Amino acid sequence: METIFSGIQPSGTPTIGNYIGAMKQFIDLQNHYSCYFCIVDEHAITVPQDPLKLRQQTRSLAALYLAVGLDPEKATIFIQSEVSAHAEAAWIIQCNTTIGELERMTQFKDKSQKNGRTGVSAGLLTYPPLMVGDIVLYNANLVPVGDDQKQHLELTRDFVERFNKRYGQANQEVLVLPEVKIAEQGGRVMSLQDPTKKMSKSDTNSKGFISMLDEPAIIRKKIKSAVTDSTGIIEYDPVNKPGISNLLSIFSASTGRPVEELVADYTGKGYGEFKTDLAEAVVALLAPIQERYHELLASDELDDILDKGADQARLVANKTLQRMKNAIGLGRKPRKR
Ligand code: AQP
Repeated sequence: METIFSGIQPSGTPTIGNYIGAMKQFIDLQNHYSCYFCIVDEHAITVPQDPLKLRQQTRSLAALYLAVGLDPEKATIFIQSEVSAHAEAAWIIQCNTTIGELERMTQFKDKSQKNGRTGVSAGLLTYPPLMVGDIVLYNANLVPVGDDQKQHLELTRDFVERFNKRYGQANQEVLVLPEVKIAEQGGRVMSLQDPTKKMSKSDTNSKGFISMLDEPAIIRKKIKSAVTDSTGIIEYDPVNKPGISNLLSIFSASTGRPVEELVADYTGKGYGEFKTDLAEAVVALLAPIQERYHELLASDELDDILDKGADQARLVANKTLQRMKNAIGLGRKPRKR
């Protein structure tokens, strides 16, 4: 069976962008692959986080993983910082990655341009190696991500090829080379307030995103105030009409109805009616998830699942880490017992 790794940062409450671009896919994937779904809290600290909030968001994200339908009997669900191999592997990977490669990453360029190089943490530059570690530690062949993560996956592939060439023995590769798997639908959900920018859970303007825990009244309000255009024609044209096209994609991903069918249904109807129906579709999508989420959050079951997940993850991750250490000559040769 092929192996999948994917993670989400607990840097806020996940948005429907995270759901459509990542979590929704996880549910199907767990039936066909050996899956590791991680809450990547070490990634979240590349930007300042409030300690209490970070803990709360970490557990909350775990509850959401389960509430959307991830099954701990099928997938390993765990918190990154509870498996120390991630941080160790990241160091080895950083030492085998150039600064040039890291400085080319669009996310680093964007964030460092906004805040200036002296205003961002070194972790913001070096977090892609942490992500590489997340993937290689579990021997993942496939990594399902949103479109925005493609560049980091290319970095992962470059690293694995270089590492295997440098340290692999004849015909014996140290690490598995992963493939990227982009969501077919809703690969990139855009902000409701600026549809040229991706929807992000840490957006300072909360009107730009729908969080998975937003109440129905808030969802209706946010969708009502979503930016569209002045033509009033419902059509899918992301270049010229990014606002309505984004709403169509969200509608489609929330209901499973193809965009063309929705366009046909709303021909001659106004944005107002369209937005009202879209809001109801999103409310209906999130209602059962939110109900289950609140039950889980109040239960011990959640912590039992996370304890077990961390144990399972450690077993696999430590083996790969030892293989990496052996390959590059760190520590002493393992003793035969
Ligand atoms: N807008 C999006 N559309 C589709 N997919 C998305 N993803 C994130 N935003 C969208 C996918 O969700 C997964 C987890 O992402 P993450 O939380 O680890 O990091 P991120 O991509 O930086 O997500 P955010 O919401 O934008 O977080 P912040 O605001 O903290 O930076 C990934 O698979 C991602 O592709």
